[in-house]
Amino acid sequence: MTEKPILRVLAGEAVWPPPVWLMRQAGRYLPEYRAIKDSSGGFIARCTTPDLATEITLQPIRRFAMDAAILFSDILILPWALGQDVAFKDGVGPVLAPIRDSAGIDMLSQARVTEATAPVLETVRRVRAGLPKDCTLIGFAGAPFTVACYMIEGGGSRDFAETRAMAYGNPALFERLMDVLVDSTIDYLSAQIEAGAETVMLFDTWAGMLAPTQFLRHVVKPATAIVEALNIRHPGVPVIGFPRLAGMYVGLYAERTGVDCVALDTGTDPAAAAASLPDSVAVQGNLDPIALIAGGAAMRAETASILDALAGRPHIFNLGHGILPQTNPEHVAELVEFLRNR
Ligand code: CP3
Repeated sequence: MTEKPILRVLAGEAVWPPPVWLMRQAGRYLPEYRAIKDSSGGFIARCTTPDLATEITLQPIRRFAMDAAILFSDILILPWALGQDVAFKDGVGPVLAPIRDSAGIDMLSQARVTEATAPVLETVRRVRAGLPKDCTLIGFAGAPFTVACYMIEGGGSRDFAETRAMAYGNPALFERLMDVLVDSTIDYLSAQIEAGAETVMLFDTWAGMLAPTQFLRHVVKPATAIVEALNIRHPGVPVIGFPRLAGMYVGLYAERTGVDCVALDTGTDPAAAAASLPDSVAVQGNLDPIALIAGGAAMRAETASILDALAGRPHIFNLGHGILPQTNPEHVAELVEFLRNR
């Protein structure tokens, strides 16, 4: 029997008021994160130094008493661990040596991942040991399609045209990369669970960019393989899927992949999405991160309307996408207080 509110919701129970955590709850909007950022090495060093990553993961827990902690790391730690050159540049974002041919895939090594991610797994162990008793630890990875977008494109992009052109024009090459990502994501998430993650989340930020046929092949199929493998290796450990911008395909995604919870993005109507889901599937979301920047009455009204739309359902309150750096931490405190006093 679990008492942690987030695990109760993920098991299909409607808990009132709904428990809360926020995507990107650790990061630049917090002065205590910026203080560490200024005195530590680069972003990858912060992710792979257990002292720093543990402290950063716990900062929003101390400040806001969130119901979940999410491991401080990044979805691009996996391509880095596979051996691709990855850098995070201030003001630019991630920069990777793009992979466009089979020689690029040949250079990736799944054998390298265990050793390279050892410090991340040590962070998971330390965070779990230091967590308040009602707080759930969330592990995560990027979903294969979104990670492939950055690996092929070499960084962020408006339309990820190189990636999507490869998926159409050279499906054998594209699927070879996707197979590496599916296998290594299963192993990496399993290792996070073994180290103490109590649930894992799969971030598919760019899922909604795909045409329907491609969405089935490159979003639904890999997520299904990952959920199936995790359910076998770690029965009872719930999986949260975030097929961002999937629109009308949210129900199909949940049904086919077998995720325990679907995270909704900002533009999705929560009541309509919930109606398209099996009753046992929990919903996470989906306050507009900009409403959190605005704060005050507008933020409270938006929050209340999401709560009403999902009342009676298993619901974890969250944003529809990550917290933006210009967010006032006081607004986060105000949001949590508003939710807890419902
Ligand atoms: O949510 C959390 O607090 C946990 C940590 C976390 C980070 N990134 C930390 C981070 C998580 C879960 C992510 C996921 C992630 N990373 C996604 C999927 C979710 C989403 O937001 O769509 C994606 C697409 C990435 C890739 C990525 N990492 C980009 C595009 C950037 C640059 C943009 C930016 O915000 O700077 C990053 C860098 C990054 N990841 C930072 C943080 C705190 C900022 C870098 C820094 O603080 O030095």
